[in-house]
Amino acid sequence: MENFIFANPVKIIFGKDTIKNIANEIPKNNKILIVYGRGSIKKNGVYDQVIAALKGHEVHEFSGIEPNPHYETCMKAAAFIKDKKLDYVLAVGGGSVIDAVKFIVAAAYFEIGDPWIIISEHAEIKRALPFGAILTLPATGSEMNAGSVITRAETHDKISFNSPLIYPKFAVLDPTTTYSLPAKQIGNGIADAFVHVIEQYLTYYTGDSMLQDYMAEAILKTLVNEGPKALESPTDYDVRANLMWASTWALNGWINCGVPQDWATHMIGHEITAFYGIDHAQTLAIVLPGVMTVLRNQKAKKIIRLGREVFGINMESKDNAINQTIKVVENFFEKIGIKTHLSDYNLGDEAIEKVSNRLAQRGWKLGEVRNITADTVKEILTLRK
Ligand code: NZQ
Ligand code: ZN
Repeated sequence: MENFIFANPVKIIFGKDTIKNIANEIPKNNKILIVYGRGSIKKNGVYDQVIAALKGHEVHEFSGIEPNPHYETCMKAAAFIKDKKLDYVLAVGGGSVIDAVKFIVAAAYFEIGDPWIIISEHAEIKRALPFGAILTLPATGSEMNAGSVITRAETHDKISFNSPLIYPKFAVLDPTTTYSLPAKQIGNGIADAFVHVIEQYLTYYTGDSMLQDYMAEAILKTLVNEGPKALESPTDYDVRANLMWASTWALNGWINCGVPQDWATHMIGHEITAFYGIDHAQTLAIVLPGVMTVLRNQKAKKIIRLGREVFGINMESKDNAINQTIKVVENFFEKIGIKTHLSDYNLGDEAIEKVSNRLAQRGWKLGEVRNITADTVKEILTLRK
C-alpha cells in the first residue's frame, strides 16, 4: 500500500425528515444564499422544507444551475454574493448544484484574476465561503468530497478541480427526496457511482490493499443488487437509503487510500459531454467497456476478481472470465436503462476524432500508469461505435 493522508470533515445528517436540522448547522446571524437548479425542488417539496427550516435566517436565492454546471452561470451567483455581502451558501440538488456551489464559494472572493484559472490552471484557492448541501440525487459523491467539475460552454471545456476548502460543512441525505427522480436519473446515478468505484479499484493488481478492495466490492454489490430494485419500486425507503449511502461512499476518498487510480473513463467521458451534451453517466457507460477491453492485460487480475466477487463469474479460462466480465458490466448498464454505444446517441467517427484530438491537444496521458494516449482513446472509442 502507498503512503496516504486521509481526512474527511463533512458532517453527514442522514435519514427521513432531516432537512429541518439545517437551522442548527448555520450560524443564526449568517445571510444565506440558497442555490438550486431548474425547479425540481419546488415540485417535490424540498424547497418548502428548506424555507421552513430557515425561517429564522435572512435568506436569498439563486436558481437555474444547469446539469453540467456552467462557469458563466456560477459567475453570476458569485457576483450576487459579493453584491449582497452574503456569508453562507446552501446547495440544494444533485451533483451539478453542489459542484456549482463549490466553484461559486471559491470564485466569490478570488483575488488574483479571473476565477476560471481555478479550473484551467488549478490556481490555489485561498478563501472560500462556508457551505452546506442537501442532496436530492445519489450519484456523484460531491456531497462528501472536495472535487467539482465545471463546464465553460463557449469553449466546450469540462474540467475538474479540487481543494480542501471546498468540502461541504454538512450534507443532508434524506432518501425520501429521491422518490421524485425520473428513472433516467436513477439509472445515471447508479452507473456514475459504479464507475467511481471502478476507477479506484479496477487497476493493475497490487494485492496489498485488502480493506479498500473489500470495501469497493461491498459498494459495487450494493449498487448492482439494489440499483435495479430502485427502478422497480421507486418508493422503497430501504433501497433508496442503501443506494444513497453507497453512492456517497463511492467517492468520499475512503476507497482510494493508498491505491492506484485510473479515471480515464471519466476524463474521456467529460470531453464527450463537453462537445455533445450527453449525460455524464451515459458517457461512462459508453467508454468503460472499451477501457476494460483495451487495458485487459494490465487490469486482468482485477477484472477477473470483479467478475467473481461482484457478478459471480467463475471460469477456468482467464480470457473467458475477462470477456464475460466486460459483457456483464455492459449488460448491467443496459439493465438500468443506459445505452452503451456511441451510435445509440447518434455519434460516430467524427466524435471519435474530435474527442481524441482534444485529448491530444491537452497533452494528457491517462490511466493508472499514464499509458493511455490520444491514440489509445481513439482505439477505445472505435470499439464503442
Ligand atoms: O435542475 P434540477 O431541478 O436540479 O433537476 C435535476 C437535473 O435536471 C434533476 N434532479 C435532481 N434531483 C432531483 C431531480 N429531479 C427530480 N427529483 C429529484 N430529487 O436531475 C437532473 C440531473 O441533475 P444533476 O445534478 O446534473 O445530476 P448528477 O447528480 O448526476 O450530477 C452530474 C454532475 O456532477 C458531475 C458531473 O460531471 C456532472 O456535471 N460530477 C461530479 C463529481 C464530483 N464533484 O465529485 C464526480 C462525478 O464523476 C461527476 O463528474
Ligand atoms: Zn462520475
